[in-house]
Amino acid sequence: MAVGVLLFVAVILACLSASGNLVSGENSFSIDYKNNCFLKDGKPFQYISGSIHYSRIPRYYWKDRLLKMYMTGLNAIQVYVPWNFHEVVQGVQNFTGDRDLEHFLDLANQTGLLVILRPGPYICAEWEMGGLPAWLLQKPNIVLRSADADYVQAVSNWLSVLLPKMRPWLYINGGNIITVQVENEYGSYFACDYNYMRHLRALFRFFLGEDTVLFTTDGNTDKDMKCGTLEGLYATVDFGTDTNITKAFDRQRRFEPQGPLVNSEFYTGWLDHWGDQHVVVDAQKVSRVLAEMLTLGANVNMYMFEGGSNFGYWNGADHDTRFRSVVTSYDYDAPLSEAGDPTEKLFAIRDVIKQFRDIPSGPMPPATPKFAYGFVTLKKVGKVSDLLNTISPAVPVKSQHPLTFEEMKQNYGFMLYRTTLPQDLSEPTPLISPLNGVHDRAYVSVNGVFQGLLERDTVLVMNVTGQQGDTLDILIENMGRVNFGSKINDYKGLVSNLFLGKDILTDWQIYPLDIDGAITSGWPHSDSGKSSPAPQKDPSVGPVIYMGTLQPNGLSWDTFLKLNEWTKGQVWINGMNLGRYWPARGPQQTLYVPGPLLSTTQPNNITVLELERAPAHLRVLFMDRPQLNVLAEKP
Ligand SMILES: *[C@@H]1O[C@H](CO)[C@@H](O)[C@H](O)[C@H]1NC(C)=O
Ligand SMILES: *[C@@H]1O[C@H](CO)[C@@H](O)[C@H](O)[C@H]1NC(C)=O
Ligand SMILES: *[C@@H]1O[C@H](CO)[C@@H](O)[C@H](O)[C@H]1NC(C)=O
Ligand SMILES: *[C@@H]1O[C@H](CO)[C@@H](O)[C@H](O)[C@H]1NC(C)=O
Ligand SMILES: *[C@@H]1O[C@H](CO)[C@@H](O)[C@H](O)[C@H]1NC(C)=O
Repeated sequence: MAVGVLLFVAVILACLSASGNLVSGENSFSIDYKNNCFLKDGKPFQYISGSIHYSRIPRYYWKDRLLKMYMTGLNAIQVYVPWNFHEVVQGVQNFTGDRDLEHFLDLANQTGLLVILRPGPYICAEWEMGGLPAWLLQKPNIVLRSADADYVQAVSNWLSVLLPKMRPWLYINGGNIITVQVENEYGSYFACDYNYMRHLRALFRFFLGEDTVLFTTDGNTDKDMKCGTLEGLYATVDFGTDTNITKAFDRQRRFEPQGPLVNSEFYTGWLDHWGDQHVVVDAQKVSRVLAEMLTLGANVNMYMFEGGSNFGYWNGADHDTRFRSVVTSYDYDAPLSEAGDPTEKLFAIRDVIKQFRDIPSGPMPPATPKFAYGFVTLKKVGKVSDLLNTISPAVPVKSQHPLTFEEMKQNYGFMLYRTTLPQDLSEPTPLISPLNGVHDRAYVSVNGVFQGLLERDTVLVMNVTGQQGDTLDILIENMGRVNFGSKINDYKGLVSNLFLGKDILTDWQIYPLDIDGAITSGWPHSDSGKSSPAPQKDPSVGPVIYMGTLQPNGLSWDTFLKLNEWTKGQVWINGMNLGRYWPARGPQQTLYVPGPLLSTTQPNNITVLELERAPAHLRVLFMDRPQLNVLAEKP
């Protein structure tokens, strides 16, 4: 360590002695190639930064999380802008409420944090489709992340809205954005299309000016660096605790012989997939490697510092050997937990940072209070197939062959495909997806009786029985689009024909489900006791909606919802879609419920879509701590 500290001092001295010769204007931020560092207001500057995604944290907690990052001693945060979160419908951009990026930047600025902005357009981030809007897939065979004319046109339209908003927030214009990343780990993508990167560079320069520090981030391999870097964009690397940092920074040096060393994503933890072990990264290891990098004078961004949650349908997925969807929690084993609480890892990191810069005095803000509200017993509202008038108000689309979600222009959630059995099936008859075209799970019923399920890459055949003319219902769940690699054109729904025995099933009626819309307008709680039949207490198998109320007790503290012995589904509380649960697979067992969502005076409305099987007790439990590490079943 002593040698390291001396080295660190030497690096800073080199920068300091140089600064006298340079123009040192206020509000300047640049790269000092001669002395291998950043210059802020003409002085050497090293950032110690952490990633936080506003799209994964409710707006009312933004300030709390930022303050905790500041009190750890960070001087910057790194922020992704998810395009699909802002432009859900093509041509209609939303920057209000939880999507108010400028409010987030303002809070960071008030807190004293600089910003490293990562506007994509592709961001990966384990976010649905890597941040790309699914409506891009309406052009068949579009080559995403390339110079494909339609892709580039959509990107240009988006960036011509986003980047002008960001321009006043640049540090050089009086804001707090010091650097801006172009694309994300582009070198790891198969296309390696320099024309695309040149087009992005031209757009970023046009909207952000010539003086803004633009950079790229790539994985620590020669191929990644070769395809991901471009002249005029400062090349940085990303790597975690198991990498040899000398070798990694040597690689950055081969592409950027002069300038600051930068690790743009130093992994403090890792993501979880359904059906895989919960991943943790040792706090001592994180703090040791962080100290080594800071000693070298490197600039480091910790990915993640605060992970948050994949609310709603926003989780991404990987597709290497098989499709693996990312869990709802994005806790990431990060220094701040999913609920924004300081962990042991945070304090270990703070102890490291203290050795390199003065950290703010005063106590770390405490964890937000948690409350175990206890059990709530739900009741059955009805089977999905019996509720279509309410949850699928649009006219069903008739089609000989199944249409994808994208063709139906419903990009997320659930869709029901209905046809009839073409003949009597007195013996169990295989229902087959020969081309693996169920994206991603199919819940199959005949005349409302659940028969089983198909799952992408793992279950391609199941048996059905029934009589000619019986209704065959196939509810398809989109589990989140692939966010990384060459398979990001991830169409959803039934993307190829299903066979019953040797026959292709045809003559579909396709019902796009808008459960979120129904819930937003008050259903099913507003309905109970009125038009619909009295809710029943008994569970049944297959896709069923349940409801219940958590009585107010004057508190609106954070809590964690456990659906013990439930199987798989989606939960809403007071209209907010909390995300997917799947305790039967794990490892995540509880969903984070942000306290301010709960009413202190009115009954809190819980709605559950259980896709497979509810337990007889129909109870859910609000606990005061999360449970993210119980793997139940291997797929
Ligand atoms: C924009 O986003 C906010 C917050 O996420 C949401 O409340 C609002 O309904 C959205 N507006 C539109 C027009 O979709
Ligand atoms: C950011 O904060 C600084 C210091 O408090 C302030 O002078 C500046 O006006 C703020 N910038 C913006 C864009 O709000
Ligand atoms: C890292 O790599 C360097 C250069 O190849 C080597 O000298 C050093 O021993 C390695 N360090 C560790 C901890 O393996
Ligand atoms: C379907 O039923 C047949 C006949 O009963 C049986 O041999 C086969 O194992 C079943 N297949 C599946 C996937 O359950
Ligand atoms: C629960 O739903 C009812 C009926 O839609 C509504 O009147 C009430 O305000 C809701 N409660 C909360 C806390 O939103």
